[in-house]
Amino acid sequence: MSENAEIRYQGQSWEFPVVVGTENEKGIDIQKLRDRTGLVTLDNGYQNTGSTKSAITFIDGDKGILRYRGYPIEELAQKATFPETAYLLIYGELPTAEQLRIFRQRLTENSMIHEDMLHFLTGMPPSAHPMGILSSMVNALALFYPRFYVEDMDAATFDQMAVSLISKVRTIAAFSYKKSIGEPFVYPRADKTYCANFLNMMFDSHAKPYSEDPLFIEALNALLIVHADHEQNCSTSTVRLVGSSYANLYASICAGICALWGPLHGGANQKAMETLSMIQKNGWTAEQVIAKAKDKKDLFLLHGFGHRVYKSYDPRAKVLKNLVERVFSTKNIQDPLLNIALELEQLALKDEYFIERKLYPNVDFYSGILYRAMGIPEDMFTVMFAIGRMPGWIAHWKEMHDEGNLKIGRPRQIYTGPTVRSFVPKEERV
Ligand code: ACO
Repeated sequence: MSENAEIRYQGQSWEFPVVVGTENEKGIDIQKLRDRTGLVTLDNGYQNTGSTKSAITFIDGDKGILRYRGYPIEELAQKATFPETAYLLIYGELPTAEQLRIFRQRLTENSMIHEDMLHFLTGMPPSAHPMGILSSMVNALALFYPRFYVEDMDAATFDQMAVSLISKVRTIAAFSYKKSIGEPFVYPRADKTYCANFLNMMFDSHAKPYSEDPLFIEALNALLIVHADHEQNCSTSTVRLVGSSYANLYASICAGICALWGPLHGGANQKAMETLSMIQKNGWTAEQVIAKAKDKKDLFLLHGFGHRVYKSYDPRAKVLKNLVERVFSTKNIQDPLLNIALELEQLALKDEYFIERKLYPNVDFYSGILYRAMGIPEDMFTVMFAIGRMPGWIAHWKEMHDEGNLKIGRPRQIYTGPTVRSFVPKEERV
C-alpha cells in the first residue's frame, strides 16, 4: 500500500508520496514541494537528500553492509575478478562465460592509448601529481576518440566507451608513473590479466624484468573490487551532475576524478599514509595523535577515519585489514607504519570522542598499507582508487541516461545576499 507524508506550514497541510526501496529504505518525494508550498528544502552537503533512485549499490551504514547489485562485497572481493565485477555493475548481472570472454577481449583490444596522446603526457611537468595527469588524459580521450555525442549514442557506442575507459585508465596510470621516474613506458600486453597487466606496466624494466606475484595480483584484484562503487558519494554524484547536462562520458568522468582527488574523499588514502609517516618521523605516540585529532583548534584530521554513511566499521576496511594481515604474514613483511595504524585504530575505537561520533576506519585507512607493500608510491594511491571506481562511475552514468526522463541536476538555494539596491559608484570616477 502506498504511503504519504504530511507537511504542515502556516496552518495548511500537503501530502507527499513516500517512495520505498527494495531494502525498505524510505524517502519523501518532494519534487513538487516548491510548486505546491512555495518552500524548498535546505540540506548543506546533501546529508539527507536522495538525489536519485538507483539499482546499483546498496549500503546500510548502521549495519556496515555494502552490496553491488545484491552481492555482498565480502563475497565479490574473495570470489570475483575485477572485470567480472565491472560487468556486473555496468550491465546489472554477472556475465556468462562467453560474455566475460568477450568483455575481457575488448578490454585487451582497447588497452593502448593513441600515440599522439603521449605528447600530452610527456609535456607535463615531471612533478605533476598523477591525479592531475589522469584527469587531463581522461578528458583528452574525448578529443582522440570523439564518438561520444550523448543524444545519438547507441548501445554499441556506449559499450565501446566503457571498455575503453576501464582499460585505458590503467595504461594512463602506469605510464604516468613511468614518466615520474624517468623510465620508458611499458606497453600493455594481450597475454596478461587486467591486474597482472597493470603491475607489469608499472614495474617491468630493462634493469629488472617484472615477475608476476600471484598474491599481489589477488590483493590488487580485491582492492579494485572494494573501490568499484559506493552509490551517491561525492565523485559519483559529480559524474551524474555533469552527465545530467548531456556532457559526454569522458568529461563526466574527468569531473569525477577531480572530485575524488580531495583529501576528504579518495585523496584520504594518500593523506592517511602521509599521516602515518609523519607520526613515525616525529616520534609521536598514538595518544598524542588521538589528542591532536580531537583538538578542535588543531587542523589535524585522522584521515582514513569517519564516514558520512558508515556509522559502524566500513565493510571495505574489514576486507582490506584481513588482506593486509594475510599478505604481510605470507610474505613476512615488516612495516612500522602498519604497527602505528593498528595501535591508532585500537586506541580510537576505545576513545569517547570517536565512539560518540561513530568514527571507524574507512576504506582509506588500510588500502595505502597494501599499496605500499606492492611498491606503489603514495601519490599514486588516489589514482588506484580511480581505476577501481571507473566501473561504478560508468554504471551510474549509464543508469541515469537509460532511465529516460533525465532532469538536469540543478539544486536550489536560499539567497542570503543584499536585497535590491541602486548602482552608485563607490568613488567619483576620473
Ligand atoms: N578525525 C577527527 N575527527 C573527525 C574525523 C576524523 N577523521 N571525521 C569526523 N570527525 C568529527 C568531526 O570533526 C565532527 O565533530 P563535531 O561533531 O564535534 O563537529 C564529527 O566527527 C562529524 O564529522 P563530519 O565531518 O561532520 O562528518 P561528515 O559526514 O560531514 O564527513 C568525512 C565525513 C568527510 C569522511 C569525515 O569523517 C572526515 O573528514 N574524515 C577524514 C577524511 C577521510 O578519511 N575521508 C575518506 C572518507 S571514505 C571515502 O570518501 C572514500
